[in-house]
Amino acid sequence: TQPKAYRAAILHSLGDPARVGLEASHAYYPDGVLVVADGHVRDIGPAEEVLARQPADIELVRFEHKLITSGFVDTHIHFTQTEMIASYGEQLLDWLNNYTFPEERKFADPDHARRVAGLFLDELLRNGTTTAMVFGTVHKAAVDAFFSESDQRNMRMIAGKVLMDRHAPDYLLDTPESGYADSKELIERWHNQGRQLYAVTPRFAPTSTPEQLTLAGRLLAEYDDVYMQTHLSENRKEIEWVAELFPEQNGYLDVYDHFGLLGERSIFAHAVHLDDHECERLHGTGSGVSFCATSNLFLGSGLFNLARFERHGVNVSLGTDVGAGTSFSLLQTMNEAYKVLQLQQQKLHPLKAFYLATLGGAESLRLADRIGNLEVGKEADFVVLDLHATPLMQARMNNAHNLFEQLFVLMMLGDDRVVAETYVYGNCLHRKNA
Ligand code: GUN
Ligand code: FE
Repeated sequence: TQPKAYRAAILHSLGDPARVGLEASHAYYPDGVLVVADGHVRDIGPAEEVLARQPADIELVRFEHKLITSGFVDTHIHFTQTEMIASYGEQLLDWLNNYTFPEERKFADPDHARRVAGLFLDELLRNGTTTAMVFGTVHKAAVDAFFSESDQRNMRMIAGKVLMDRHAPDYLLDTPESGYADSKELIERWHNQGRQLYAVTPRFAPTSTPEQLTLAGRLLAEYDDVYMQTHLSENRKEIEWVAELFPEQNGYLDVYDHFGLLGERSIFAHAVHLDDHECERLHGTGSGVSFCATSNLFLGSGLFNLARFERHGVNVSLGTDVGAGTSFSLLQTMNEAYKVLQLQQQKLHPLKAFYLATLGGAESLRLADRIGNLEVGKEADFVVLDLHATPLMQARMNNAHNLFEQLFVLMMLGDDRVVAETYVYGNCLHRKNA
């Protein structure tokens, strides 16, 4: 296809500020141009320099008061909980029993699954999220429908069928054998099909028997590049329950470790209550943790300790965890993450927050060679953020004197209202007010 050029302020992440320093962590072009062709980034840099390298008649789109950045990466979310977001009043285990399981039951119907998958993916796009790691339900056909919808949009999604064979209502249970066979079928059909990727998805330790966790480990051994996603140490009562269920194991993470579920393509959501030994083990195995700030506040789970993970060199990324999370927006997730860290006397620099929501997610998912920033050759997933989206934002931005302040205002005040356009593989899939 013909190349297309986009002119606006451009920011993208080049590394973790905690590892490479603030200066080297990003590239910023106050007047920049991004050139896209065939779904990939072909050029990026200061406008005059980039345009001088392009044919004079290149199609050029010019934005005012906008910031282009790479698409957001959400490393933990449940598509099947879209229509139960904002369910009142419980902490984790009661929330699961009273709201979540009955909601997930509806996904036995593939038509319901297809409709909600479409709604969910469009909502991600409205919020500037172009890649997510997604839980389905126990139902194979629901995950099949999800991948179909994602494939149609050509979005890079990682998803999986939930494995759960105990401690939930009968209508949501599989068996070790059926869970294994269904997962295998989905892997064969969808893993690396277009941009789709599969994650073996045991819900969490309490809802899987040792037999099922053994077979989850077998799947990971059989397919060396499939992912693993689960929940870890979110809530105190959950942790006590795991200790009762797995008395042989030395703590919650050790349960997953015992069954071979740690590794470079494993993401553990929450990880709120861990000890240093567990952080060390996460680091040693290349496993990642997903910081789900709005969810941890909503369910009263606890405060994620970012500094500790940084100290141990653990890969951290951001998750919305909808439906326990209260927003699809990674900007709102940065906002709440900032406050979670404030309560622990920690800071979250806006460049760190943007790193976590983009390249940090891609690195945790081992996809940084394809997505996460806008370097030449990367897949062209990007967003156009409107710095003047509301009268208040416009007034505040006019009073912001540098990139640092602009970004901080975006992460405090921004949400879906600031996402003017979202591009997936070079195609505009969301345009605000269009
Ligand atoms: N732990 C087990 N299942 C879930 C879930 O659906 N959401 C959250 N936040 N935690 C869980
Ligand atoms: Fe979750």
